[in-house]
Amino acid sequence: MAAAPHASWWSDAVFYQVYLRSFADSDTDGIGDLEGLRRRLGYLEQLGVDALWLTPFYRSPMADHGYDVADPRDVDPMFGTLRDFDELLADAHRRGIRVTVDVVPNHTSNQHAWFKSAMAAAPGSRERARYLFRDGRGPDGAEPPNNWVSVFGGPAWTRVPDGQWYLHLFTPQQPDLNWDDAEVRYDLERTLRFWLDRGVDGFRFDVAHGMAKAPGLPDMDPRAAQEYRTSEQGKAYDPRFDDDGVHDVHRMIRKVLDEYPGTMSVGEIWVSDEERLARYLRPDELHLAFNFRLMLTHFDADALRTAIERSLAVPRAAGTDATWTLSNHDVSRTVSRYGGGAAGLRRARAMALVELALPGAVYLYNGEELGLPDADLPASALTDPRARTLGPEYGRDPERVPMPWDGDLPPFGFSRNPRTWLPTPPEWAGLTAERQLADPESTLALYRQAIELRRTHPALHAGDELEWYGAPAGCFAFRRGRGGLICALNTSASSIALPPGEVLLSSSPLVQGRLPPDAAAWLV
Ligand code: GLC
Repeated sequence: MAAAPHASWWSDAVFYQVYLRSFADSDTDGIGDLEGLRRRLGYLEQLGVDALWLTPFYRSPMADHGYDVADPRDVDPMFGTLRDFDELLADAHRRGIRVTVDVVPNHTSNQHAWFKSAMAAAPGSRERARYLFRDGRGPDGAEPPNNWVSVFGGPAWTRVPDGQWYLHLFTPQQPDLNWDDAEVRYDLERTLRFWLDRGVDGFRFDVAHGMAKAPGLPDMDPRAAQEYRTSEQGKAYDPRFDDDGVHDVHRMIRKVLDEYPGTMSVGEIWVSDEERLARYLRPDELHLAFNFRLMLTHFDADALRTAIERSLAVPRAAGTDATWTLSNHDVSRTVSRYGGGAAGLRRARAMALVELALPGAVYLYNGEELGLPDADLPASALTDPRARTLGPEYGRDPERVPMPWDGDLPPFGFSRNPRTWLPTPPEWAGLTAERQLADPESTLALYRQAIELRRTHPALHAGDELEWYGAPAGCFAFRRGRGGLICALNTSASSIALPPGEVLLSSSPLVQGRLPPDAAAWLV
């Protein structure tokens, strides 16, 4: 049965992703933490977001910055304590901000108690059955069990001293769990209840198309070794991900969430087509699934329109809500992706208006509202395991740099410690939240106005259907619902006339009433 549109708080919510390491540091170790975030909640309240998504803050040796979880039911001392978490949650709730947390079900850390005992146990043991240990190929088992590659480069198998191999689709410090194992399933249920009982409002599921692997672990088509793509290559046979068995896991998860009314789930799902994505949104599976197509599309009106239309087909088919995002901690920031410099910033601002005009849930990534670009970091500063294995250009550090809050010198109020886990560029002095709060033309001001209008203006609640207007080459305009908001985008090189109406907001100043290149406007 299809859910009624906008039946739930998340249906058109603005979520804000907090990359905790980089948000605000309260204990002066140069790394963001839960208490630092709590002290900055006033900023998020002013920004007007409905809910937060916190990246992992669980016990972890931090081989993949917390996505290698050693204990999913405790807070890593780097980020604070369980008490800090409870206080953060209570404070956010008092301010009307919901809190969702990340869950990493596909793998654990190699420092998880289960993996340590698996390493100490013999092949074929109960301890090894929670992971994917296999004998190798070739006469002496010296070849990996199959040809799978890790998302972070190199073989997805590592050999242990007794000769067996274990599977890790990410770093060797992130062994994949065996989801056929009843204890593995039960443990996730415990983790969900642990956080639900504390009062969280939902979860973001990491690698939500992982977990189940094709039975027998057959070889993959090597052309599938492309990550973060929803392209034709994505159609190459890839038994590592999106195996039909994964839906059993999602049904188990949904059963638990249904016991906690008002809680939700969103999945990080990288699949090649919308039909596969819609399967995750069946009524007894996830509530939301990121559609990354918009994020992967370059700044071109025709391509963007196609991405929007294709993305809207998913929730329509599944009877749920669209889930938009332009950036997160894994991809280059919009300002840089759209060309960098002044043009990149103009385009990122235009795309913010496009995204916030669309029906469905929107996920913003911290710093996006400040128009931050990727930081140019010296090679010696890089920390991301992906940069080590795939090469510096694949590293995700540039989009993970600490938030510039105030003052004129790095680290701009992020920490009292001048040595932060990644250095903040001195040229971000003009981009601090403090400066932008005082400037009505700032990117922060644009986001605040857009979020406020999205929440309060009737034109943004006029319906979910998009009606597309005829528009000059390199431009589009759509109307949302009957008599609703019109959003016009100009990706061409010349200014264009706007459709008739009153301009509510524009991402760049209009020039003699016309929309300049690299800009978007909202009209009623
Ligand atoms: C997801 C996370 C990413 C992490 C990976 C492995 O893609 O977003 O940051 O490295 O999963 O857990």
